[in-house]
Amino acid sequence: MQPQPLVLANWKLNGDRQLVTSMVSALRDAADSLHGVNVGICPPAIYIPALTEACYYDAIGVGVQHISEHPKGAYTGELAVSMVKEFGVDYVLIGHSERRSLYQESDQQVAAKVAQVTSAGLTAVVCVGESEAQREAGETLTVVKAQLAAALQGLAQSSPALLVIAYEPVWAIGTGQTATPEQAQQVHAEIRSWLQQQLGDAGKDITLLYGGSVKPDNAAELFAQADINGGLIGGASLVADDFIAICQAAR
Ligand code: G3H
Repeated sequence: MQPQPLVLANWKLNGDRQLVTSMVSALRDAADSLHGVNVGICPPAIYIPALTEACYYDAIGVGVQHISEHPKGAYTGELAVSMVKEFGVDYVLIGHSERRSLYQESDQQVAAKVAQVTSAGLTAVVCVGESEAQREAGETLTVVKAQLAAALQGLAQSSPALLVIAYEPVWAIGTGQTATPEQAQQVHAEIRSWLQQQLGDAGKDITLLYGGSVKPDNAAELFAQADINGGLIGGASLVADDFIAICQAAR
């Protein structure tokens, strides 16, 4: 059986309180057209209480974009898993390419974060993907599998059901240059097969998202691919009509 479709909004460093309320209200109005799709929003962390409150009666997941690999201590500016859990967070993005490239988030940190997040019962959304140079050098699968191995190392004692993988080719993020459905499916199929090798049947049930310039006009074709179970949406998730159209395409 295919994993249930999931579409997550990653607002990055964008949005405000007004967008929280208007997005939740638009998703509520569109709820009938979204049956069968799990939808979540990852706003900047300061808006999480407002989001949790706004969607209290709605089936909208709440996510954070970043988490500490430490449970507590002298780590100025960080947020711990136990803290975001208190505020109703369901999903935690880990290893986004912007965190990896701008803030040097390493595979070792990814493993530690996956351990923290999944042992607390939250869902770890681990982002993997190659740069343009790595793709041109034929290194896509080597890079992606090394990133996946770190995620699985952290998963160790926790349930694979708490793991989501988001394949986001770095060259497609925010560039308008989406991977073709065939390019994306090719990598997703390899990810699926690698997960099955490592985890057996549980690997079949892990949700695989595609991210990188997903828009209303290309979402349906991407989500129609056999191993693409939804998307991680950046720019287009800031506009309610676009985000809803993308969520509808995942049904
Ligand atoms: O987390 C989302 C991805 O980085 C995709 O961003 O849809 O703006 O390309 P984008």
